Amino acid sequence: MVDVERWKKEAAEAAVELVRPGMILGLGHGSTARYALLKIAELLRTGKLWDIKGVPCSKKVEEEAKALGIPLTTLEEHPELDLTIDGADEIDPKLNVIKGGGGAMLREKIVAQATKYQVIVADHTKFSERLGTRAAVPVEVLPFGWRTHVSFLEGLGAKVSLRRNPDGSPFLTDQGNYVLDCYFGPIADPRELARALEGRAGILGHGLFLGLVDEVFLAGPSGLQRLRA
Ligand code: A5P
Repeated sequence: MVDVERWKKEAAEAAVELVRPGMILGLGHGSTARYALLKIAELLRTGKLWDIKGVPCSKKVEEEAKALGIPLTTLEEHPELDLTIDGADEIDPKLNVIKGGGGAMLREKIVAQATKYQVIVADHTKFSERLGTRAAVPVEVLPFGWRTHVSFLEGLGAKVSLRRNPDGSPFLTDQGNYVLDCYFGPIADPRELARALEGRAGILGHGLFLGLVDEVFLAGPSGLQRLRA
């Protein structure tokens, strides 16, 4: 296993140690959170964990969790979750993060908002002093009028590209919307940017998660670090 995969697995499996019987969990999307999913399934299978239910952050995670035998529930049945384990694309020292590399940021944010203890799992390459340095901010837009947002986003300082599938067709989120990947470079004021994005009709969500994360499990060559907000 290459180092980065080993670190992702290490961070995810360490976070799963927070899971207790009786908990309602948010199940994050992405290749790092998937290691947590696999570990939860293993613990259930071997009888070391029981009586948990998960709310998946995407249709893909829902399918995987079902195939792994993880009991599922919904935010309608459980509007408050005990713990969510999710990945991220970039993490700053204040534990603000960029998410959405997999396009699931809107559901992930709804789940994070409903969670008492939000945990991010990642390898150390995701850490940066300033958000925007290494990741684009994904912006979910309604297909109707999507091009009208490009100059707005450029006006905020972004280089904008419509996310596409390998066959060239527009990538669609689980809600059937488009994603505009916005490359800002280091973002001076993420809160101001988030406010600007949230004030525009047709923009349905974005990947800036500010003040939503309680703890980050970050693994790398010097071991596992736990960063708390
Ligand atoms: C999904 O939309 C994302 O928010 C992921 O959680 C994020 O992109 C991290 O994914 P990886 O763990 O695959 O890098």
